[in-house]
Amino acid sequence: MADKMADGRPSTQPVLATRGLTRHFGGLIAVREVSVALHQGELHAVIGPNGAGKTTLVNLLSGEIRPTAGYIELDGRAVAGEPAWRLARLGVGRSFQRTNIFAPLTVLENVRLAAQAVDRSQRNPLRHAKHGTGLVDKAQAALARAGLTGVETRVAGTLSHGEQRQLEIAMTLAGSPKVLLLDEPLAGMGPEESERMTALLKGLAREHAVLLIEHDMDFVFAVADWMTVMAEGGVIAQGRPEAIRANTAVQQAYLGSHA
Ligand SMILES: Nc1ncnc2c1ncn2[C@@H]1O[C@H](COP(=O)(O)OP(=O)(O)OP(=O)(O)O)[C@@H](O)[C@H]1O
Ligand SMILES: [Mg+2]
Repeated sequence: MADKMADGRPSTQPVLATRGLTRHFGGLIAVREVSVALHQGELHAVIGPNGAGKTTLVNLLSGEIRPTAGYIELDGRAVAGEPAWRLARLGVGRSFQRTNIFAPLTVLENVRLAAQAVDRSQRNPLRHAKHGTGLVDKAQAALARAGLTGVETRVAGTLSHGEQRQLEIAMTLAGSPKVLLLDEPLAGMGPEESERMTALLKGLAREHAVLLIEHDMDFVFAVADWMTVMAEGGVIAQGRPEAIRANTAVQQAYLGSHA
């Protein structure tokens, strides 16, 4: 267990951290000088109203888009501007706000392809045959971790909405990530499905550094170890859920009737 500082956060080096991270889209500043630190074993929730810049932040962290300015460090190494495929191989896994599976393929094929996409040895044909089995094993393990054992041969498009979101988590896990960037994994779920996903996310947060974007405040306050509140691209508050709940600026800018 890592040493704890006075505020209860681990004093070890963050797995992923940003300083002054900024992204412009023409005249719009979608992400403005954002500094966040994601620690192993911590569930870090990012909240904020629609258009606050949450997804753009995840897109920057995962290398989908390049920053206009600022720093990103993965295990202490500068990675801003690295492409998504390289960051995936270095241990950054992400899921998307809108479900992003290959509907006509089976569940197992979806996860195997995800494992293959981040595989470091795929260009070595000599290892290929043996390696194919390794990818299937990896995919099976990811499916088991995401609670999807027993549906491997189903066509992904026929799964329930909740199962499809679990499948996305499995696809992310197939790359053996250190960091999980999860963009609204609970969106559109019924109570039973969310309960299952909540248990899964809590477990994953013990083994990874997790950044979770979520609009359901009851859920966020129940599961988050640490929170970042964004509005209009910037960070308006960071801290433990108790402190965020009591923060007047947050209440005014965002929580409104939730507070
Ligand atoms: N590729 C893009 N080109 C131009 N503008 C963009 C692009 N992506 C995002 N934006 C703009 O950046 C701002 C932040 O968007 P973003 O999707 O990051 O918000 P969000 O906090 O994830 O919102 P939501 O809660 O609705 O998902 C918005 O004004 C959005 O229109
Ligand atoms: Mg978003």
